[in-house]
Amino acid sequence: MSAGSTLPSGLPAQAYAAQRDWPGYFEAVAGKPARETLLLALDRFDREPSTHRPRLAVDLGCGEGRDTAELLRRGWHVLAIDGHPDAFSRLLARGDLPHRDGLTTLHAPFEGLRVPECDLVNASFSLPFCPPHAFDALWVSIVAAIRRGGRFCGQLFGDRDTWASLPDRSHQTREHALAMLDPFDLERFDEDEKPGADALGTPKHWHVFHVVARKR
Ligand SMILES: C[S@@+](CC[C@H](N)C(=O)[O-])C[C@H]1O[C@@H](n2cnc3c(N)ncnc32)[C@H](O)[C@@H]1O
Repeated sequence: MSAGSTLPSGLPAQAYAAQRDWPGYFEAVAGKPARETLLLALDRFDREPSTHRPRLAVDLGCGEGRDTAELLRRGWHVLAIDGHPDAFSRLLARGDLPHRDGLTTLHAPFEGLRVPECDLVNASFSLPFCPPHAFDALWVSIVAAIRRGGRFCGQLFGDRDTWASLPDRSHQTREHALAMLDPFDLERFDEDEKPGADALGTPKHWHVFHVVARKR
């Protein structure tokens, strides 16, 4: 069992995420590379002339920092936000964290968060964990924060995902997700739906939207 975790160690990351066991999750994903949605968004930015540098990214639900580390490596300034304190002890202990002067951390819940003006909001597998009563306000704040020409990247979880029935999760139908992204041009909107199971054999149906979107 990893420090602070309530589950046995060695389970797949999703087993810890199902229980909101974030210390266990951080241990399970340690050493993994940046998410593909972030890499695609960064490649899109790299192809465009920039009016200002450094650009600012907000990494929402940064976890142990796989995406924050990549952003810093690529010269971005990053505001890394997470609701669990272990995210920051893990993030700051990473051996691959360059340009630390470009990093600001904020230990805060999604509930009531006001996202500051930025070029990119990266939310990798984190928004579904915002409770439904706070989700709409968080999304309004995300859209308002992103500058024209800036991007949102990350995941939204669909209504047919097993976790959609959990009362503290925020999931969207495909139509709702597309409506939320109306202020953006979609550069990636992949619907990924597949059956699965955790290490204990409990079925877990995945229904995930992978998103990279540029604000008009
Ligand atoms: C599945 S993890 C994803 C972490 C990281 N973005 C990644 O891709 O590995 C979800 C993250 O969201 C954070 N989180 C969950 N609920 C939250 C909330 N209500 N407010 C702030 N952060 C929250 C967790 O602490 C965790 O770091």
